[in-house]
Amino acid sequence: GLYGSERANSAGLDLNAPQELAPLGREMERAAKRGWVGAPLVAGQEAGGETRMVQNPADLSDKVGEVRWSTPEDIETAVARADRAAPSWNATPATERAACLRRLADLMESNRANLMALCVREAGKTIADAIAEVREAVDFCRYYAARACEEFSEPKRLPGPTGETNEISLHGRGVFLCISPWNFPLAIFTGQISAALAAGNAVIAKPAEQTGMIATEAVKLMHRAGVPGDVLHLLPGDGAKVGSQLVRDQRISGVAFTGSTETARLINQALAAREGPIVPLIAETGGQNAMIVDSTALPEQVVNDVVASSFQSAGQRCSALRVLFLQQDIADRVITMLSGAMDELRVGDPARLSTDVGPVIDGEAKAVLEAHITRMQKEGRLLNRTGLAKEASKGTFVAPAAFEINSVAQLKREVFGPVLHVVRFQAERLDAVIDAINTAGYGLTFGIHSRIDSTIEHVLKRLRVGNAYVNRNTIGAVVGVQPFGGEGLSGTGPKAGGPHYLHRYATERTVTTDT
Ligand code: SER
Repeated sequence: GLYGSERANSAGLDLNAPQELAPLGREMERAAKRGWVGAPLVAGQEAGGETRMVQNPADLSDKVGEVRWSTPEDIETAVARADRAAPSWNATPATERAACLRRLADLMESNRANLMALCVREAGKTIADAIAEVREAVDFCRYYAARACEEFSEPKRLPGPTGETNEISLHGRGVFLCISPWNFPLAIFTGQISAALAAGNAVIAKPAEQTGMIATEAVKLMHRAGVPGDVLHLLPGDGAKVGSQLVRDQRISGVAFTGSTETARLINQALAAREGPIVPLIAETGGQNAMIVDSTALPEQVVNDVVASSFQSAGQRCSALRVLFLQQDIADRVITMLSGAMDELRVGDPARLSTDVGPVIDGEAKAVLEAHITRMQKEGRLLNRTGLAKEASKGTFVAPAAFEINSVAQLKREVFGPVLHVVRFQAERLDAVIDAINTAGYGLTFGIHSRIDSTIEHVLKRLRVGNAYVNRNTIGAVVGVQPFGGEGLSGTGPKAGGPHYLHRYATERTVTTDT
């Protein structure tokens, strides 16, 4: 069916079951010792130019490996080959394309320890986040495989009121460029590529600069799963160079981008300025995600959900909570409990199971966040800041912080890290809060905690957001269960892991035959 009730998500791991975790832990340790290399994967040629050293963000003295960056010649070869290979991949039955993705899902599961080890060491993910990362990638493959079989196999028959037959069918657009972020270096990376492949496109993958090794491992698995080398190419490198050469190339017939709103705008401008075909941009960008808590909410549950939403993954999720609106009558209680919970957070080595918050991705991210925190110390009121373990000085850690501010207008742009802003409101000012959230212009996730149905309904009707969560946290959307994506400044609205996502990567054709 359309909503995939027959389909299962991948199984998880019980973090409280040592017998399940021990073998995985040993495998991850072995994987961590390997000398990892990332490089362009361009069919038919030894590729890459200058080499970049990759450091573990939790311990900058730990060299994880090296990534070779793509040269202009790599880019040209990749695009030319993808362009030539696209028609035959598009003509490959959708069921065969889907079979590749299902094999890929299996391969990712059997290589879980390697992928997790890289998620931890290259991207600073905690173990729990690394498990979720592999599961989400696997889920994307299987979900899009199922969607492709359902929608791309046979043309769909339409009414023929005057006696002719009418059919509509979906096809790949050509070469899709997939530009992915470092915060979900495997899941979003795989999600974009598997969707583009399922829909019948050849793919050029441009991973985030920070996570080229995970991307290399993933693309090797994709090729092993049966995706032809000419159909999928990997081009690691600098966004400003590699990315901009690619978006200007007329042979690129669609772009999927997840990252900042500013970069999405630049890509959109570059695509608009091109000669040749007009092509779509699928953009999934940031958020200034808010949560409203009224006085009927349960404070314990609110605190639990706020801590997960704001600080899990060191706040480096586009879904993470940034602005918490607390109704005045309950604010002091929630703030006191929230401070207590923040004191308990363990910030440190993400390879340790007991760690709640790992490092931020790199020194630049840390500097931006610390500058914001310094500004907030002047413009807001510090509610609490979690302590850092001594080992944190080895890496790029930012201690979780919570500030009270007067208005969301004080936040000019997305703050991508473990910083929460709290705004108090009086019950009669609820509509002003809704207006303030809508006026900020983002529209990704939103949370509401309330026990009054009419309040929930009132708020949800007025807010323009892609993913609303009622009485729970706002992170960790599950493939096929909570299709994920925002609107406004948060993106062009596609729902990753949703029933209509593949359409964004496809073109539709209607054939009318006179009988
Ligand atoms: N899909 C992720 C989440 O829901 C993205 O940030 O948390």
